[in-house]
Amino acid sequence: MCVDRCVCHDVRFSTLLAMHRKTGAGFDELSAQTKCGTGCGMCRDYIRLAIKTGRDRLPVMHPDTLRRELGRGE
Ligand code: FES
Repeated sequence: MCVDRCVCHDVRFSTLLAMHRKTGAGFDELSAQTKCGTGCGMCRDYIRLAIKTGRDRLPVMHPDTLRRELGRGE
């Protein structure tokens, strides 16, 4: 099982990464353009990690692990 999209708005990370590579858009800009992350919010840190790593498929992670991966550890 992996995380590869914002389920609430059916926006794939591959689409977001392509937009990021083309325009340099960060999470806030991508969210404004696609609505990703504006539903339940569960995908937000996954999207940030996808942008940071360039990976469009991520393993399911505990929120603390996600924060650590983003350099926002406890
Ligand atoms: S999965 Fe992205 S806002 Fe819910």
